[in-house]
Amino acid sequence: MLLNIKNIDVAYDDYQVIWNVSLSVKEGEIVALLGPNGSGKSTVLNSISGLIKIKNGEIDFNNIPIHKFETYQRVGVGISHVLERRRVFPYLTVLQNLLLGAYHEKAKAEREKSLQDVYNFFPKLKDRKVKLQIRCLEVNSKCLQLVED
Ligand SMILES: Nc1ncnc2c1ncn2[C@@H]1O[C@H](COP(=O)(O)OP(=O)(O)O)[C@@H](O)[C@H]1O
Ligand SMILES: [Mg+2]
Repeated sequence: MLLNIKNIDVAYDDYQVIWNVSLSVKEGEIVALLGPNGSGKSTVLNSISGLIKIKNGEIDFNNIPIHKFETYQRVGVGISHVLERRRVFPYLTVLQNLLLGAYHEKAKAEREKSLQDVYNFFPKLKDRKVKLQIRCLEVNSKCLQLVED
């Protein structure tokens, strides 16, 4: 199992929004979390990436319990979180935004190859200077990308 979320409770201060949620993602699987506005989809993703700490339960990634990790440590084991809408750094160029996606030292080692891969997927990025939605670059082969839309 790549991702295993076990019985998590999540609250913003004392306002609980997630009760006893469990879900799992196998390697190679694409899983969609569906629900109306305010039902807690983003909160589950925030819990995985560490933007909010869970109150109870456990989150394992690649058999590593990550729920006590800081967000940057979760990036280090292969988790990236693509926030909804165009959450890029608007005052940086497209290239600078892309390079930030490879900020982690594991990603830096393969930065040039990753950049070429991105340009192959999105050739227009080579010509664009600013303001474009950027996805993450993988930091290793076991990578989980959380995409909000
Ligand atoms: N930063 C926050 N502080 C307090 N409450 C929040 C915060 N973010 C979301 N909520 C509340 O948590 C609940 C779930 O929201 P959210 O996870 O954003 O739902 P979804 O992504 O499914 O629309 C909602 O009641 C929302 O108002
Ligand atoms: Mg949301």
